[in-house]
Order: sequence, then C-alpha cells, then structure tokens
Amino acid sequence: MAFSDVIIDSSFFYMFGIITVIALVFETVNKSYKFYVTHFLDSSVDFAKFGKWAIVTGSTDGIGKAIAHELAKRRINIFLISRNLEKLTKVAEEIERAYKVETKILVFDFTNFDHSPSSGDPYNVISEAIKDLDVGIMVNNVGMPIGSVDVFHKSEKPGEALSKTISNLIHCNASSRVKMMELVLPSMITRKIGLIINISSLSAGFAFPVLNTYAATKRFDDTLSVSLAQEYKKHGVIIQSVQPGFVQTNMTRPLGSSTNLIYPTVTTYVHHMMKTIGKSDCTNGYWAHTISLWLTTILPEDITGRALFKYFMKVGKRLKSRNTK
Ligand SMILES: NC(=O)c1ccc[n+]([C@@H]2O[C@H](COP(=O)([O-])OP(=O)(O)OC[C@H]3O[C@@H](n4cnc5c(N)ncnc54)[C@H](OP(=O)(O)O)[C@@H]3O)[C@@H](O)[C@H]2O)c1
Repeated sequence: MAFSDVIIDSSFFYMFGIITVIALVFETVNKSYKFYVTHFLDSSVDFAKFGKWAIVTGSTDGIGKAIAHELAKRRINIFLISRNLEKLTKVAEEIERAYKVETKILVFDFTNFDHSPSSGDPYNVISEAIKDLDVGIMVNNVGMPIGSVDVFHKSEKPGEALSKTISNLIHCNASSRVKMMELVLPSMITRKIGLIINISSLSAGFAFPVLNTYAATKRFDDTLSVSLAQEYKKHGVIIQSVQPGFVQTNMTRPLGSSTNLIYPTVTTYVHHMMKTIGKSDCTNGYWAHTISLWLTTILPEDITGRALFKYFMKVGKRLKSRNTK
C-alpha cells in the first residue's frame, strides 16, 4: 500500500467522523427543539374554527370526559357517546352548566360492529343522530382493557369465550376508529376543514406481553391514524394519533391510586395533551410519557418485555386473589 493511500484513508475517516458528529448534534438539537415546542408551548389551533360540534366517544369517564370538558371550555358543543344513559346525562348537565354550551348524548356500545341483514349497520344510529350537525371535531377515545390480566390464552373476561372477549376488544378499540372516521370524514372534506383525534396508547410502540391484544389494537389505531393523516392533510383535515402512557383512570385502577410524574391524574394529562394538538401526526400528549417511551425503546426488547411480563403477571395475580375473596 502506498503512503498516499494511507493519507487518503485517514482523511476519509476524519471527514466521516466530523459529518457523523455534526449529524448527531443536528438531530439532538432538532429533537430537543421539537420536544420543547410540542410539549411546552400552547397549541396554536383555534378549536372553534372547525365547526360547532365535537363528538367524543367514551366520554363519561377518564380521558374522554376530560377532553369533553377541555373542548367545551373552548365554546364547542359536545356530542357524548357511551353505554350508560345515567352517566351520560350527568356529564352532559355538568358540561352545560359549567361552560354554557349545548350537549347531545347517545347510548351506544362500541363492541357492536357486525351487520346482520335484518338489523343492518349498528352505526346507522350514530349517523342518523349526527346528520344535521356541523361536526368539526371527532375524538375517537373509547377503549376497553383486556378481559383478564393474564397470558394470551387465559385473557378472556370471566364467563366469556376468549374469542368473544377479543372480538369485543377489537371492535371497541379499533373498528370504532374506522367507522367513526367513515361517518365524519366526507363532510369534513366537503367543508375543507376538520380535526380528528385518535386516542391510541404508548403500548402501541413496542412488544407488550400480557396486555398483548390491547396493545395490538392500539398499534392498529396508531398506524391507521398516521396513514390517514397523510391522505387527508391536503383536504384541510388534521388527523392526530395520541399515545398516552399510564394515566390514572378506571381502566388503570388495578395499577394503584397514587399518582406520580409518569402516572398523572387525568386532568394533568389532558391539560398537557391539548397543548400538543395540531403540532404532529403522532404525540404522547405529555412530556414525561415521551421520555418514558424513549427510555423504554433504547433498552433491548427482551429486557423491557421480561420486566413488563413480570409486572403485569403480578398485577393479574393480585386482581385474581382480590376477586376470589
Ligand atoms: N388510562 C390510561 O392509562 C390509558 C393509557 C393509554 C391509552 N388509554 C386509552 O385512552 C382511552 C380512554 O381510556 P380511559 O383510561 O379514560 O378509560 P375509562 O376511564 O375506563 O373510560 C372509558 C370510557 O369509555 C366508555 N366505554 C367503555 N367501553 C365502552 C363501549 N364498549 N361502548 C361505549 N363506551 C364505552 C366508558 O363509559 P361507559 O362505561 O359508561 O360506557 C367511559 O366513558 C382508551 O382508548 C384507552 O385505551 C388510556
């Protein structure tokens, strides 16, 4: 090898090193700036410009109810959909009294999906109820947890077949997103404006033993949402996937009642989440959850998988012994 080749080789590696360092610095600065803008500056979205009404599914508790309050605070009428008439009436009255907006309620169970020739599409009742409303915002929030906190083949809801538990989960958590977007998108496209928020989950981002089928439905929500965001941007419709980490609600009650930085109250979570709207096709909605996701994904999947498996199997055992007492 000639001496000049060695010089060329070493200067090539020197340049390669410098370019790599510049790229890494650029990426870090860019990501830190995006993190700051997404989580710490208010959203510039004018929520009232989309239309008079917002539909929120699963709106009588937890994240859905808190989002309904935040939207009503911004002078938007709220259409609430859940299974329980009493809870719906109570939340609607609460919202009307607090923010002087209009509300409508509809009892609907999102585990319903399949058509039969005699009864037709179960979603017809929703399409009929919203047909004359100026719906500008759709929040696809409804969701249910797995039937039992256990390994896949034992995760059925007590007294139910595993296939039934899983098809209910899929229809409530995933099919509902498809159907509700099918209902609201055409008029948003015609009006060239709209906002759709699809609540997914941080569990969509990696292997999640024990919460397996739940996490799979959430990955569906996420992929559908970010894909449609690209399709409908040019029509003026913002579609955003939100992936919360653990938030204290009825769904996470088995995890304990004391909140902390990464397990916030629903009010704290939704307050942060509203700031992220319109800034990215997919966010966690809360800075501490973004950091948790980042820390989780830099570890090898086997390590996080084993830790999650151990933790949730313990939760499952605790729940079982509580239920048999
Ligand atoms: N909490 C968390 O840590 C967390 C984390 C990540 C993602 N998420 C997601 O956030 C969303 C909201 O969860 P959450 O924790 O706020 O749950 P939650 O407190 O249990 O509230 C669920 C809401 O959905 C309604 N609902 C449940 N099943 C329904 C069905 N089959 N048909 C119609 N309505 C139904 C419930 O009302 P009724 O019982 O009156 O029908 C309630 O209003 C879900 O999509 C969940 O997957 C939550």
